[in-house]
Parts: sequence; structure tokens; C-alpha cells
Amino acid sequence: MANKKAQPKKQAAAAKPAPAAVTKPAAEKAAPAAKKAEPAAEKTAPATKKAEPAAEKAAPAAKKAESAAEKAKPAAKKAEPAAEKAKPAAKKAKPAAKKAKPAAKKATPAPATEEPKPVVEEPKPVEQEPVQPKEEAPMEQPYTTPRRSIAFIGSECHPFVKTGGLGDVMYALPRELVKQNCDVRVILPRYACIPQKYQDQMVYRGEFYMDLGETGRSYYVGIMEYICDGVVYDFIDNQEFFSAGNPYISLVDDIPKYCYFSKAALAALNFMNWIPDIIHCHDWQAALVPVYLRTLFQDSPVGRAKTVLTIHNLRFQGIYNIPTLRYWTGLPEEVFSMGALKQGYEDANMLKGGLAYADRITTVSGTYAWEIQTPEYGEQLEDHLRYHSYKLRGIVNGIDYGMWNPATDPALAVNYDITNVLDHKWENKLALQQELGLVQDQGKFVIGLISRLTNQKGLDLVNAIVPELMDGNTQVIVLGTGDKQYEDTFRYYENAYRGMFSACIQYDESRAHRIYAGADALLVPSRFEPCGLTQLNAMHYGTLPIVRETGGLKDTVEPYNIFTGDGNGFTFDQYDAGLLLDAINRAKTEYFVNRYHWDEVVQRDMAKDVSWQNSASQYKDLYLELTPW
Ligand code: ADP
Ligand code: GLC
Repeated sequence: MANKKAQPKKQAAAAKPAPAAVTKPAAEKAAPAAKKAEPAAEKTAPATKKAEPAAEKAAPAAKKAESAAEKAKPAAKKAEPAAEKAKPAAKKAKPAAKKAKPAAKKATPAPATEEPKPVVEEPKPVEQEPVQPKEEAPMEQPYTTPRRSIAFIGSECHPFVKTGGLGDVMYALPRELVKQNCDVRVILPRYACIPQKYQDQMVYRGEFYMDLGETGRSYYVGIMEYICDGVVYDFIDNQEFFSAGNPYISLVDDIPKYCYFSKAALAALNFMNWIPDIIHCHDWQAALVPVYLRTLFQDSPVGRAKTVLTIHNLRFQGIYNIPTLRYWTGLPEEVFSMGALKQGYEDANMLKGGLAYADRITTVSGTYAWEIQTPEYGEQLEDHLRYHSYKLRGIVNGIDYGMWNPATDPALAVNYDITNVLDHKWENKLALQQELGLVQDQGKFVIGLISRLTNQKGLDLVNAIVPELMDGNTQVIVLGTGDKQYEDTFRYYENAYRGMFSACIQYDESRAHRIYAGADALLVPSRFEPCGLTQLNAMHYGTLPIVRETGGLKDTVEPYNIFTGDGNGFTFDQYDAGLLLDAINRAKTEYFVNRYHWDEVVQRDMAKDVSWQNSASQYKDLYLELTPW
């Protein structure tokens, strides 16, 4: 209902089937900006030059694309007179489609052939700050690095829509970058499932129509804006694509949706005449952005931006057959080469294309950056990633100290900080046990698990050892949703171990906070884990992580050393249920036998700097490297 309220213009626009004529003015509007942007484009020229030889090779393919574009013209032609009237600037903008052609020619970055270089580097241990007895990162530091503007483009962002850690990163990193002298806009789909209270606060920013691939249609693009704590959020509005209750449905729906979204995001930047220095895209849903940018948008104002593509999870790549991708994107032929989108005989892989075209690739930990270049973790893109490894680096995630702070967290029964954690954490444990119907006993060892219930998260290891875990002194709390097989198994265990095992098959943000606070240990036995945020949240709440040494888990949790007393948690290396059980038993021993040492680790973990400050400054450095003026 209020949905409607928030988009009066859109309704009106959507009511009429978009006349082709309407498509122009929007494009027109962007035109003057195009002019302005020229000098900047000029600056980038040398790089483009270098790329030319490859472009030459690609030319025949581009030619084909031209004729396809040619075919698409009649509709556009019809629209012209109206457009003409609408704005004289239209003239310049008209070539939008035309311009795409030469751009297609320039679309060189995609290497035609690919000879993977064997440049697998040893994982560099992520530099963790030595333990500092401080609760929060110092806030108002003077940042002296030059100002840069960044457009974040991704498919989810807390508090609007979140299914996992990507949502946390899209929320926290822009906020930290604002503190570090960046001007940040976050571009997101305006999903219907965004809570009404945010929908109501969005302000209509404009609308235009955009053609899409070979569909022959023009699509509505509304822009709804919401500003919070210095970050501008621009939501791309189109009910045809974003009206489902969930951001992700199935590939059949999601492929067209994110083809549209990636193109609309770039067109929206042109439309708003907000041309960022850097476009920072996230995961496969936004991976076509660098591809569009260096082809169809190269000669438009936004074409001067540099791109960074961050891999949050390599398992999801956006793969579909080439004809479908060609239909929805209208991208020139050369991007469907083996060096870019093409995969196997007939598939196109959106993430693979983005990796080829992005100026820089990052992933969310140093170890994962290394792992994904190996067959074990490379999800069949290891060769491609090794080929592009010169532009790949790992930057570990942090957590937002405003959102995750046991001293102020409104979800907790009792707030606490590093100075009184030992006095108050147990009160949160008792409250949690009561909330979940578990035996209320502060002496029990409570293990939490907060996770999407998928194959990635090592849940088969957990399932295999539950009976051995349940020794009468241990309680287990699972919070998560996902694959039915895991949901059912956890429900079964809840039944089998009444009062000691709790299976919360749900997504509940505030309950998650209470588990971080009330549990003694948090389990993250992942098969692979690009970074992982739950272990960071846990440590910040004085809850010791028990993790498998993979990806970001390896980089953020130093194994506890019983001889020196150093470390942050308990770890195991091979993906093996026995090793997981062993790690849990080591934790239990410390907890029950050496409580003094356990408590030391609790305080050390709370003092550990897991904020975004350090990681955001690494992103800032990366942006500055790409824009050295
Ligand atoms: P991933 O992104 O792979 O799911 P991360 O560890 O990076 O894993 O991030 C998971 C995020 O989602 C954390 O903020 C965690 O607290 C949250 N989360 C996961 N499952 C749930 C759930 N069922 N209820 C509430 N929060 C959850
Ligand atoms: C992904 C990964 C997770 C990471 C998160 C945020 O969903 O699975 O490890 O922490 O993205 O980067």
C-alpha cells in the first residue's frame, strides 16, 4: 500500500505502456553531462589506446553487434520526433545507441585467448592488529587522503534487505568510507520486500526509460532515494523485476533481473549526472557492470569511472546459456569469448565476464584470494582467476561497531563491555536459555551456530557429531534457514535432546544478537568461507569461535595455544567431523578445567580490532591507486 505512496510518479508512468517516444527524453537528459565528462574521458585515452590492438581483433564481432543494433533502430527512430521536441540536447544524446557501437569496438579488455599464468602465491597472513585494550576504533580521526567518489552496486544491503554477509558489508563499508573522506552512493534494487518504513522514507529522484538487450522494449527505471548517515542510497525501481517477496528466486528470473539492474544502475548514474571516480560492484548480480561500462557505456559520461569487482562468494556466478544472455544484455559479440563471459561450449558466466573487464578484483580475505586460484576452491574459475591474479587482492571484512556493540545493543537482556563481561555475560546466557526453552543453568557450555543452512557451512560435520556433543553439560543453539535436509535434521535433534538443543529455523536478526551474547562458543566449521562475519561478531561479544581454518576464518581466528595462552579461538584444518569434535573438546576442556584462561581469551577477543577502519582504508588505497590524480 504505502509502496504506492512512495512512487506516485512511477504508477503514472507504469500505467501507460511505455511509448517508445518516452525512451528518449531520459537518455536526452543525460546528454549534457556527456559533454561535461569529455575532458575526463580524454584523460583516460592513453589506456584505451593501448588496448586497441586487441580491439582490432574483436572488430568483426563488434560489427555483428552493430548490425544487431541497426536492426533495433526502427523503434528508436520512431521515437525521435517527440524526443526532438522534448529537448534540443536530444541530438547529442540520440547516438546513445549509436555510441554504443564504437564503444563496442573499444571493448578491448577482454583478452581473446587466455593462457593462465601459474602465479599462485602463498596466502599472505592478514595483518591483524596486535591486541589493544580498546573497545572501539577511534572515531573522528583526521583523514588526510584525497576525496574520492564511489558508487557501490550490489544486490542486498542491511537494513533494507539481507540474506547474508553481503548485506552487512554493503551497509558497513560505505559508512566507514564516508568517514575516510569518500562520497558514497549505494545503488540497490528496490525490492518489494524492503520494509515499509524504509519505502516510506524514500524520495522520488527521477525516472527514465531504457532499452534492454534484444528485447525490443524499453523498460522503466525509477530512482528512489534515501539518505542516511552521509551515505546516499539510490533504489532502482521497476516492479516487473523487483516485485517478488525475496531478492533471489531462481536463475530463470534472476538472470534477466540482474542484467536489467546492472545496466539500469549505470544509466541511472548518467541520468543523475553523478559520475563517480570508482564503481565498486559486488558478486555476480552486479558483475555485468564492468562489462557494460567498457562496451555500451564506454563513451557515455560514466565511462570514465574505474571499476572494482568484489567476490563475496565464488560459488554463485550467474551462469546461463549464451543466447539468453545475449538476448537480455545486447552486449557485443566479443564479450561472449572464452576470455570473458563464455564458459564451456554454450554457457555465459556473468561473474567470469566481470572479472575479465574489471580494473581490479578483490575478495574478502587474503587466504580466500589465494584459495580461489586452486582447483579445490576455484569453482572452475581458478585458471581465469590465475590469469587475472595481477589485479586480484584480498581485503578482510570487518564489522560495524555501531550495529554490533554489546554495551549498547538493544536486543540484549543485559549490556556489557570488556570491563564487566565476566559479570554480565552469564545473565545473557540465562535469558537466552529461558527464551529458547533450554535448561536454565549458567554452568552449561552453550554452543551457538548462526548460519545459512547450506552445503558451504560445514553442517554435515555438525550433524555427524551432535550425539557425541550432547554429554549433559553442553547445549547447542542453531539459528538459520536453508536446505531442508539440514533444517529437518536440526529439528530432529531438538526433539531428541529436549531442553539441551534448540533449532531456531528462522531468520531473526535480534535473536542472532542474543545468541552472540549468550553463548560461550560459536561454531563455524565451513567447507569454504570467503570471510565469514559470524566469528567476528562472536569475538566482539566475548564468545569464542570454533572454526575450520579456511578463507577468512583462517585469517581472523588465531588458534588458541594451550602452552602460551595466545590465540582467539579453537580451530581445525581438514574437513573432517572427528577434527571438529576434537576442536570442540579442546574448547570444553579450557572452559571447564581452565576457566581462568578461557576468561582471558574472552577479554582478548572483545579487545581485538575487528572494525572496518583498517579494511576500509585498504579499499581507499585501492581506489587511490586506480585514480592517481
Ligand atoms: P554468509 O554471507 O556466507 O551467509 P557471513 O558469516 O558472512 O556468512 O554473514 C552472515 C550474516 O548473516 C551475519 O551477520 C549473521 O549474523 C547473519 N545471519 C545468518 N543467518 C541468520 C539468521 N538465521 N538470523 C539472523 N541473522 C543471520
Ligand atoms: C559471502 C561469504 C562470507 C562473507 C560474506 C561477506 O556471503 O559467504 O564468507 O563474509 O559474503 O563478504
